[in-house]
Formats: sequence, C-alpha cells, structure tokens
Amino acid sequence: MCNTGGARVAEAILERYRERTAKSRAFNEEAKQRLPGGDTRSITFFQPYPTYMDRGFGCRLTDVDGNEYIDLLNNYTTLIIGHANQKVNEAVRQQLEKGTVLGASAECQFRHAEHLCSRFPGMDMVRYCNSGTEATMFAMRAARAFTGKDAIIKMDGGYHGTHDYAEVNVLKDLPPGSIDSPGVPTAVLQDVYVTPFNDLQAVADTFSRHGERIAAVVVEPMLGAIGLIPPSEGYLEGLRSLADEHDALLVFDEVITFRLSIGGLQRVEGVTPDLTTLGKFIGGGFPVGAFGGKREIMSRYDPGHPNRLSHSGTFNGNNVTMVAGLTAMELYDQQEVDRINRLGARLREGYCQAFKKSGIKGQTTGIGSLVQVHWGEEEIKNARDSRSLSGAARDLPRLLHLELLNQGIFIAPRGLNCISTPMTEKEVDQATSVFTQALEVLKPYVETEAPFLIS
Ligand SMILES: Cc1ncc(COP(=O)(O)O)c(C=O)c1O
Repeated sequence: MCNTGGARVAEAILERYRERTAKSRAFNEEAKQRLPGGDTRSITFFQPYPTYMDRGFGCRLTDVDGNEYIDLLNNYTTLIIGHANQKVNEAVRQQLEKGTVLGASAECQFRHAEHLCSRFPGMDMVRYCNSGTEATMFAMRAARAFTGKDAIIKMDGGYHGTHDYAEVNVLKDLPPGSIDSPGVPTAVLQDVYVTPFNDLQAVADTFSRHGERIAAVVVEPMLGAIGLIPPSEGYLEGLRSLADEHDALLVFDEVITFRLSIGGLQRVEGVTPDLTTLGKFIGGGFPVGAFGGKREIMSRYDPGHPNRLSHSGTFNGNNVTMVAGLTAMELYDQQEVDRINRLGARLREGYCQAFKKSGIKGQTTGIGSLVQVHWGEEEIKNARDSRSLSGAARDLPRLLHLELLNQGIFIAPRGLNCISTPMTEKEVDQATSVFTQALEVLKPYVETEAPFLIS
C-alpha cells in the first residue's frame, strides 16, 4: 500500500477494527465454509468482515468479543422500541406457552389488523405475510388485479425488497429500466417503468405514453435505502392526482417510514394512498410484512370473492409475530413518536455541527427519527444526486462506519442512523461526540483522497 496520509489513516482504522474483533474474524472464517461470504443477508456484510453481534438490550448491542455499541441501526430501522423489551418478551412468553402458529385463524390477527387500521386513515383491511418483500409483491399483484393492467411505475433508487419486480434500478447507478441483480429475468422490464424521485413531470410523461398499461405508482414517501431523501413539496399530492387521472393505484411503501408518525409519513403529508405496504416494526422484532388499504381493493383477497387472489404463506399472521407486534405498536404512542423524532432532529443537527467543526463538507438528510449522513454539500433530490456524492467520497462511508464501530457506535455502512425509544439525549450526544472525533481521525484521508470535500 502506498504511504500517503490517506492510506495510513485507512490502515490504522482497519488495524484497530481487527484488534477489537478477533472473535468476529474467526467466526467469519468458520461461517464462510457454509454461508457464502459468511453471512446470509447482503446488507449486513461489510469488509474486512462483519461484526458478529451476540446480544442486544434496549439501545445497546454487545458483540462476540464483548465490545458494547450504541445501536443506531435497530436492525435497519425495525426495533423502534429497542432490543429485548420486557413487555414484548412477556407477551411472547405467554404466546409460546400456547404454541407459535396453529395453522388456523386467530384472534391476535384481527386485533393487530384493527390496530393498524386505526392508525392509517385509508386502511380498511389488511393481509399479513412474512416480509416487506412479500408485502410489495402482493400489493403490486392486487393493483394489477384491480385495474386489469400489468405495469407499475417505480422510482430510481426505490427499494421495495428483493422480488423480481422490485429489483429494477435500486442501488446501482444504471440507466432507467435496468435490472439491479443478476438472475432477475429481463422480462420484468416490460412491466416496470422507472422515474427519478421528486420528478412529477417524468411520471406525467410516463403516464401519457403508457397510461393504458399502468396499474400503480409504487413509491416510498421518503426514498429510503439510497439515502433518506424526503419528498419535495407537492410531490406526493401530485402522484395522487396523476394516479387518479390515469385510473392507476397509488401504493405507499411505508416499511421504513411508518415510524415517522403514529400512521406513517402519509399521515404527516396528508396524502392517502390506495394501498400501503408495511413490515419491520409491526412484527415487534419478528419476521413480518403486511399490505392493506381500501376495502374494495383488499376484498379481492376474500376467499369468497368470485375472482379471488391467491395469497398463502405458512407463517402469515403467526401468533408470535402478531402478539409481539401489537405490544410493540401499543408502546409506540404519539408521545414516543414525538420524542424520538425530536432526538432525530438533535442527531442531525449534531452531525452537521461536527461537519462544520471538522472543515469537511457533509450534510444530513432524513425526517424525524431517521437520519442519513452524506458527504458533500450539493442538494440531494433524487437517487442520482445521492449516488454521485457517495461515489465521489470513495472509501469515506466505509471508513467512517468502521471508525464509529471502533468507538462503540453501530450505524449502517451506508450512513443510515435511526433513533429508538430507549434512547435519550445522552446517547444522541454521545453519538455526536464520537462522530466529531471520527471526522478528526478521517481528516487526513479527506485531505489526500477527497480534497474537494475540504471547505
Ligand atoms: C421500503 C422498504 N420496502 C420493502 C423492504 C423489504 O422488506 P424485507 O426486508 O422485510 O423483505 C424494505 C427493507 O428494508 C424497505 O426498506
């Protein structure tokens, strides 16, 4: 390796990571024999090897080497009320005594559904599945069945899970209408149109060219995986009007954004979709997905409907997930939503101050309890803007992630942070102070490898 200041910084960060995580490294070597890469989820893998976590309690995690972390990731935004919550555990314990899944309808399913419908103004009925991936797959199918049309519009950078119709223009910087993962049939491209987020004109143009084929616009109200990009003013309303004008459905994927109010970002923005897809938090820490919306659409899933839609899943609405999820949601009330949204604002501000203090150009995006770090100060309105900043930043996101790990802060390698209810200002301020120190460590790297980021 060449001996520039940047290379030395990178090597020192990696060296500290290796020193602290010897057992993780050994586990990874062993795991690689049976799990490709030693992992079983693309997103949790990072170089040189991922940290193997042993346990979580509240907002803290402990790895297999005994290092403790403030968990600013919450299993990618899932565990809003933190790990091993005692009330959720108690509900699960009681359910375990009665069996986990009984192969039959159960009271806990309609209690959970009642709770969800009380939170989302346009949600009359719900169906459950086991992941957000399935939720968006079934919602797209419902839209096709209801409208009698086949195609969908999705946004460049929109992540809706890993089924074939969702794997189009997600993370990679590719021309619109490109498959994101090898193995996805190119045939799906006939039925997926891709437009940039926050670009109403592009959606209008797509409708005017292909409106007779378009069943739904599927969109996260805030673009998530590509960098927490909020909707610009009027965008979601505009999508609502365009969908209505062209007899298409509007589907909001609120798998991540549900947490931003008691009824998702749609409740804050005052735009009601026809269908909403959910996952993550609503299972209280257990696998889950759900999709719901207008009665006239959802009733197509009624087994008594003459033209019913197929929807099965051995673990759909399983009793453990349902009781855990309902307990977790009941604990996440308006007061807690407001409190962690304020903590999120504090974290965003703290990170921005840290960037200013360091003389490195950076910014944060996100809303409420969701916080994203970006390198550079250019405005970010869509996936392309976000990719271009992270591409230019070279190894900085990865090194920041490792350095934060070295100092006991667990975030996503891509810079996603989120708040959980066990947190207080104390944890947020600790994260800010570690972030400030991490930028100091990284400054020599920035100076040699990305000098355009020095202000
Ligand atoms: C917005 C969005 N939709 C769908 C999904 C897929 O959910 P799952 O990982 O449960 O399949 C995710 C996962 O992160 C997501 O962020």
